Amino acid sequence: MLTEDALDTLFREGRSHNAWRDEPVSDETLREIYALTRMGPTSANSSPARFLFLRTREAKERLAPALSSGNHDKTMAAPVTAIIAYDPKFHDKLPTLFPHNPEARSWFTANEALAATTAFRNGTLQGAYFIIAARALGLDVGPMSGFDNDKVDGTFLAAQGWRSNFLCNLGYGDPTGLFARSPRLEFDEACILL
Ligand SMILES: Cc1cc2nc3c(=O)[nH]c(=O)nc-3n(C[C@H](O)[C@H](O)[C@H](O)COP(=O)(O)O)c2cc1C
Repeated sequence: MLTEDALDTLFREGRSHNAWRDEPVSDETLREIYALTRMGPTSANSSPARFLFLRTREAKERLAPALSSGNHDKTMAAPVTAIIAYDPKFHDKLPTLFPHNPEARSWFTANEALAATTAFRNGTLQGAYFIIAARALGLDVGPMSGFDNDKVDGTFLAAQGWRSNFLCNLGYGDPTGLFARSPRLEFDEACILL
């Protein structure tokens, strides 16, 4: 069982940040985030998520035209912006990732809709693991879907054939930029016990 402090860090006090302290995030830390993220479960161990870490001014400038106006300034100011993407052809790696069943790749080559659903569902799950991993390592996050996916795909992902899911600013948050915490649904509103 985790300590109450750890639960605070991961969930109860973890916030979606809009402003950043002037403190860099090392490439080593980005590698640690990925090392934790990749261990989260995905269907057939499909691991469809892919991650681009934009850490330079030049990379941020290429991202800027795709950002919604409300997301522009905070993204340019963040030490790192991750593009949480997924590989629609994730199944090509199943012979390695799911060695228990050599047939697994064919489940997806035979069914385009299943492949698309699996890529997006599991890529999104991995995006959530990424957020929790970053918080576990002491970072703050600012996830965003307010951007033009086609522009991001064209600018950053065309060579690999990957697709963008959401963006996530990473760094050490400045709490003065936070909105007031919004309410969450009560157990009885969101859950059913059968
Ligand atoms: C997938 C995703 C997309 C989001 N998109 C945006 C966005 O485009 N711009 C923004 O300012 N916040 C965005 N948010 C932040 C949410 O509004 C925020 O997580 C939510 O209000 C809860 O805030 P809290 O984590 O501080 O409690 C997004 C969050 C997620 C998880």
